[in-house]
Amino acid sequence: MKRTKIIDILQSKDYGTEVTVCGWVRTHRSSKAVDFIALNDGSTIKNVQVVVDPEKVDAELLKQVTTGACVKATGILVESPAQGQASEVQCQSLELLGACGADYPMQKKGQTFEYMRQHAHMRLRTNTFGAVMRIRHNMAMAIHTYFHEHGFYYFHTPLITASDCEGAGNMFQVTTKNLYDLKKDEQGKIIYDDDFFGEQTSLTVSGQLEGELGATALGAIYTFGPTFRAENSNTPRHLAEFWMIEPEIAFLDQEELMDLEEDFIKYCVRWALDNCKDDLEFLNKMIDKTLIERLEGVLKDSFVRLPYTEGINILQEAIKNGKKFEFPCNWGDDLASEHERYLVEEHFKKPVIMTDYPRAFKSFYMKQNQDTADGGSVGYKGAVAPGPTMQGTDVLFPQIGEIIGGSVREESYEKLMGEIERRQMDQTHLWWYIDTRRFGTCPHAGFGLGFERLILFVTGMQNIRDVIPFPRTPKSAEF
Ligand code: 4AD
Ligand code: MG
Repeated sequence: MKRTKIIDILQSKDYGTEVTVCGWVRTHRSSKAVDFIALNDGSTIKNVQVVVDPEKVDAELLKQVTTGACVKATGILVESPAQGQASEVQCQSLELLGACGADYPMQKKGQTFEYMRQHAHMRLRTNTFGAVMRIRHNMAMAIHTYFHEHGFYYFHTPLITASDCEGAGNMFQVTTKNLYDLKKDEQGKIIYDDDFFGEQTSLTVSGQLEGELGATALGAIYTFGPTFRAENSNTPRHLAEFWMIEPEIAFLDQEELMDLEEDFIKYCVRWALDNCKDDLEFLNKMIDKTLIERLEGVLKDSFVRLPYTEGINILQEAIKNGKKFEFPCNWGDDLASEHERYLVEEHFKKPVIMTDYPRAFKSFYMKQNQDTADGGSVGYKGAVAPGPTMQGTDVLFPQIGEIIGGSVREESYEKLMGEIERRQMDQTHLWWYIDTRRFGTCPHAGFGLGFERLILFVTGMQNIRDVIPFPRTPKSAEF
């Protein structure tokens, strides 16, 4: 079917030539013996106006050109007399490709996002979701381009795995077993010998452990794929299936890791400003009036680099001055999103890279800081912490909270093993990972960026369910 995309029609100056446009009807109105059809084909947020002389088109057909219907229009491209659009199509022939029933769920404007989630199969046709999906695509292109240009190899890690990278046990199991007839041993434990993989397997929570194998062979890799977490957190920031980007780099230290995190995220934001102007302007107008300002703001300043211990001091100081938090934040506590947002949005008013977290709530693979004789440790730029810390480096963003989780990895075999034993972790499925520390170990580091959290930030959307086409959350796997 020969047709011109609306994005190209709207940029064309070939007035007087014949064009064919196809798309879905946004609106159809009649005025002074002329019909105006606003058509959108998803190539841009903008519609093309098709001007129809009702005398020249079958009246029955024209009646079926309702919101949501799919039509093909052929006509002459002309300069538009109307404000806000350069060109329009003077229709010569109109074809109805698909009529649209009156029960079309996206009929009315201004539906709530909650309503649209229940009709997620059709919400992609709305202006907002069109804009979000085009930006999502652009961010994926930015990410691949960034890493390709910086010499990283796109590395594919498995989705089905027998190891739990984060050690949090939030994994979805993968099995072909009949769940109603499970064989169990004397202790009541399930026997997996006759299962598909002959052992217990799950969907991955992170490709990092395999990513480290890639980095310690190829120098620098990144993954970009789906990740699964069976955490029962019903928040606007959590999905059970989300996409993660995980670069992993050999011979990179803590300072360089933070440089990379900052440079990479700024590159993505700049890409959005440079390549998604129309969609951002739409979202800035309709969803969040400070969106573009906030995106530009992130590019202006350097991110703050803040040891966890200093962060706790700032939060304690705030509490002394009357600030109320729901959750405690004493040294050793995992920060809640309210604490992260206080530091980023109220105290510093810019993104923060937090470093040197207490060992107690971070993962086993992180590089351990030097312990002091009195039970403390020495971390980033010689800062002293009252307890053992690890070189975790998370990026905290306005509106979002944690957008990146990263760390320098513990390269010492002895220290890594010490930590695995201290945590009483099951080593059966980690032998290949531990081997990296036995055969030519090297300093290395990496991070994971939650793709949907980046999209939340770049679009100004409020709920993570609205930046992925088909969200998976507790009790919800429709579409
Ligand atoms: O902080 P996390 O758990 O780190 C890791 O998985 C590391 N293995 C990454 C690495 O160093 N290679 O997750 C990384 C990021 C978080 O900062 C957040 O942006 C996102 O993944 N994330 C989620 N996004 C949506 N829904 C969830 N349930 C998420 N859990 C984590
Ligand atoms: Mg994290």
